[in-house]
Amino acid sequence: MYRTIRTGSPRRGVTVAGISSTRKRLPAALKSLDEQCGGGLEAARKRPGFSGEAGQISVGSDSAILIGLGDEPPTPNSLRVAGGKLVSALYAMDASAAYIELAGCLSGPLAKTPAIAAQAITEGMVLANWRQETWRGTAAKGVAASGTLLLTSRERAPRGGLRRGCILGDGSNEARRLSSTPPNIANPAWVARQARNLAKRHGMSCSVISAAKAKDLGMGGLTAVGMGSSSPPCLIHLVWKPKSAKGGVRLALVGKTITYDTGGYSLKISNGMKGMKYDMCGGAAVLGAMQTITTLKLPVEVHAILPAAENMVSERAYRPDDIIEMYNGVTVEVTNTDAEGRLVLADALAWTCKKIKPTHVIDIATLTGGVVVALGEWCSGLWCKDAPLRRSIQDAGDACGEQVWRMPLWKEHRTFMRARHADIWNSGPKRDGHPIQGAAFLSYFVDPDLPWAHVDIAGPATTDTATDLFVPGPTGYGARLLSETAASFASG
Ligand code: BES
Ligand code: MN
Ligand code: ZN
Repeated sequence: MYRTIRTGSPRRGVTVAGISSTRKRLPAALKSLDEQCGGGLEAARKRPGFSGEAGQISVGSDSAILIGLGDEPPTPNSLRVAGGKLVSALYAMDASAAYIELAGCLSGPLAKTPAIAAQAITEGMVLANWRQETWRGTAAKGVAASGTLLLTSRERAPRGGLRRGCILGDGSNEARRLSSTPPNIANPAWVARQARNLAKRHGMSCSVISAAKAKDLGMGGLTAVGMGSSSPPCLIHLVWKPKSAKGGVRLALVGKTITYDTGGYSLKISNGMKGMKYDMCGGAAVLGAMQTITTLKLPVEVHAILPAAENMVSERAYRPDDIIEMYNGVTVEVTNTDAEGRLVLADALAWTCKKIKPTHVIDIATLTGGVVVALGEWCSGLWCKDAPLRRSIQDAGDACGEQVWRMPLWKEHRTFMRARHADIWNSGPKRDGHPIQGAAFLSYFVDPDLPWAHVDIAGPATTDTATDLFVPGPTGYGARLLSETAASFASG
């Protein structure tokens, strides 16, 4: 795979165009392109077996590729998938540059927005190009990533989209890099260092509340969850405050960053623990989104808040039956040490409301296995009572292919969390609707009138089968959802 994919102005490259499966010949718009690449597009169209079905790739010559667009108008999702297949074809040809010339071949709504089409195909290329090769040792036979792939278009309109697609894809891949780093390396202090570096490179300020300070401040949840680990917890805070920022909006993104979740004394059984290094995918998505937001220089104030801890078992670890007091004074009876995400998020949310005074808060977390049972890997669960914020998130999800599905949060759910020995418990006496219990728990830590959304990404954060866009492992889900949401605040 390529080391990097970015936009540039190569002197020559592979021409990439598309054709729908209903066409019997090259559309007029492609005729002169075809001449420019020596009849390669026509040769690609005529290849035996090429029908133009969506996502099908046909290599016509070493300078021409045709992508099948199917018989229905292409969508951002179908183009992303095509992009995933395209990058493998380009790599197999040893191409170092490509001209993406879809503008003339699109039908339907995307025909009017070539930049959006260009963005989608590039996102697909960048996502499908990602591998985690850092940990290959002397016994590995794998080929090292090589070279750069430069993308451009002969027309101007799509070029901004190509650039935006690279940036959004890179944001997702940064999230994947962070969450795929093994837990013996990626502990809370390591995440804090990653955040600091990101801040330095991208014009953000960064501060880290240490474990001692967090305890002092009364963050009983973060303190308790982190107590069992020899790597102390911390709360990471990044600020993007551009001079151009639109007045009025201050968006806070809060990401669950459990660098490893053993379950604590409510220990996870046998293979339920495997993969729990991915319990920091919420925090990773927030950092990936911050990379994108700052690279695009979005004119909107955004805060990133990452409560980071490792949930371990030791003589110092917290236990079921502990009662802890949280940052906002709410007391919690710990009924299950495996419901740790909501405890660190609760302190982070209460602190965010009090200190940052945001206009909108979105928390994102691999919070429950229940949401995976309910919705699978296809989408995340969304809890949000504020209609405009909900709309923005749903639209962003539809646009970037990181879909969300609305879940209920009623008074009854909140009452269910009232405990016998303290204000609330972190997990109810039965597992019924436990993703909703998580959301209901968190609601005790957010100012009641503040537009707030909770996104449970335990399903789509990882995939265990290879897809057109993803190798097994983390998907970076959330990075694009959050940056597209932030972008919608910047533009409207
Ligand atoms: N990190 C897990 C949730 C999870 C499970 C993420 C599977 C990804 C895949 C979370 O901390 C957890 O353990 N949740 C418990 C909650 C329960 C104790 C109320 C769960 O899902 O069982
Ligand atoms: Mn847990
Ligand atoms: Zn967890």
